Amino acid sequence: MITTSIERAVSALIKGEVIGLPTETVYGLAANCYNEEAVKKIFELKKRPNDNPLIVHVKDASAVEGLVTSIPEVAKRLMHEFWPGPLTLLLPKSKLISDTITANSPLVALRSPDHEIALELLNSIDFPLVAPSANPFMSVSPTTAQHVADYFEDNISVVLEGGSCKKGIESTIVGFEGNEIRIYREGIITQEVILNTLNDVTVGKIGEKNVTHPGMYKRHYAPKTPLFLCKDLLAELQRYDHHKIAILSFIPIEGIDCYPSAVLSEKGSLEEAAQNLYAHLIELDKSGADIILTQLLPDHGIGKALNEKLIKASTPIE
Ligand code: TXA
Ligand code: MG
Repeated sequence: MITTSIERAVSALIKGEVIGLPTETVYGLAANCYNEEAVKKIFELKKRPNDNPLIVHVKDASAVEGLVTSIPEVAKRLMHEFWPGPLTLLLPKSKLISDTITANSPLVALRSPDHEIALELLNSIDFPLVAPSANPFMSVSPTTAQHVADYFEDNISVVLEGGSCKKGIESTIVGFEGNEIRIYREGIITQEVILNTLNDVTVGKIGEKNVTHPGMYKRHYAPKTPLFLCKDLLAELQRYDHHKIAILSFIPIEGIDCYPSAVLSEKGSLEEAAQNLYAHLIELDKSGADIILTQLLPDHGIGKALNEKLIKASTPIE
């Protein structure tokens, strides 16, 4: 089922099947956005509640016309600067986009993935692709074709091989209030990056009370093994010493070599930590440990998005 054949992927999509799609962020479960049955299949496969909308993937900014009724000037500038790339824009949908895709919202989420194979595929078909991350609802997002195959092996016939995802965490999602940009989901493209690139714009976060969509469920990207966030890893190790403990640390920590452990970045790079986060969580989840202990990362730049993921994946410590 894991294949490098674009032709096989195209023919599966034309038949209304769902496929595994590599992107630069995480792998997606993709289907023809104009085929309502195929769109519904995605929700079934993921066991995703149908009030949680899907992102539409396009080959480039020109492919957005027709899918939306209007595009604020600032959105055009964002597309120009960041597409293809890990930035998803919320725009008013046209009739071409079904209410199933947007979960009845008048807005549709759109992005153009920065991945050679995804773009080659999008250029070989004449429809956009809806694609949520290719994990069952509430589990860790996949960053390799094998992760997708492990999750869905009996239920999809094609997973396009695209290597390990270069970015490793989901796209930043932004919406607009007039010409103001609002961040709905943090990602690699941070508020600072947007401000540094378009220096005359206003970027804010949406308030908690405005969160209507469940991408923002409190517990979300969770491994099955309880994951605890601790201030001092070594001290917590003593506390749980009767358990089989796995450790996920940002950089190597002396004195914990004897445990099943994973280091997010030997050299302390947040970009590298993002690339490795989900693969390490999946690996430690399979290690047979009773619990996984981890720590928050430096809370700046993409560290903020990573910490948000860790907090959502964790079980509160008593
Ligand atoms: O990087 C990514 O964005 C990956 C890759 C595959 O492109 N996709 C992804 O999709 O993360 P998903 O479905 O796992 O997360 C998309 C989130 C949803 O949970 C939802 O909260 C938000 O995007 N979303 C989608 N459409 C929306 C809409 N119309 N209004 C508000 N939020 C929306
Ligand atoms: Mg997801």
